[in-house]
Amino acid sequence: MNSIESGKWRYATKKFDASKKVADSTIKELEEVFNLVPTSYGLQPARLMVVTNQELKNKLVEKCYGQAQVRDCSHLLVFTTVTVDAAYIEDYFTRTMELRGTPAETLAPFKKQLLSSFEKMTAEQNKAWAVNQAYIALGMVMSACAEKAIDSCPMEGFIPAQVDEMLGLEALGMQSCLLLPVGYRAADDMFATMPKVRLPLSDAVKHIS
Ligand SMILES: Cc1cc2nc3c(=O)[nH]c(=O)nc-3n(C[C@H](O)[C@H](O)[C@H](O)COP(=O)(O)O)c2cc1C
Repeated sequence: MNSIESGKWRYATKKFDASKKVADSTIKELEEVFNLVPTSYGLQPARLMVVTNQELKNKLVEKCYGQAQVRDCSHLLVFTTVTVDAAYIEDYFTRTMELRGTPAETLAPFKKQLLSSFEKMTAEQNKAWAVNQAYIALGMVMSACAEKAIDSCPMEGFIPAQVDEMLGLEALGMQSCLLLPVGYRAADDMFATMPKVRLPLSDAVKHIS
């Protein structure tokens, strides 16, 4: 499928066929797509938690306002963020020096700028910045799913603090912000055949030439 075809094929799946599972090798590819996503400054403040434990998936339904996709999907992808602080930034520069062989003195001005920017941020600003990066990751992983004819449903409809508690994310320094159940659509999901509700292209896109 090209990108227009997969964009038309994809829809926010409301009902998954719980008997169909995505191959582990395909999930591994999606994990790599996630890790290749571009992020602001390259700091990668988003982390992915992949949940297959059926008992947990069952329990998560009530934390998602009764949305059964989290129970019936093959894999539940939980997009989370971590806090970027001075130690995190240090690690990032150490990795950059190791992987690129860039001398510390070349990176010093950029490092100083990042340390100063993040020091000035409130906790809310830090979180909001990180969540923005998670949304980019969500979009790219969703596109990769569609290219592979894997169904998904982006979800903001859940109670993050309670999901974090259930999955033990706090101990890992992770906070959930988005869910993406992935799998295969149920044959009777009526949303699969509904026409897409979209603006006329001329309203959605303007041109200045
Ligand atoms: C960030 C985000 C959060 C969403 N949250 C939910 C959700 O909690 N539950 C749900 O069923 N759909 C959710 N959706 C799906 C949208 O309702 C859906 O993408 C939109 O209506 C367009 O339909 P389509 O994706 O089927 O083309 C969400 C979509 C996005 C991008």
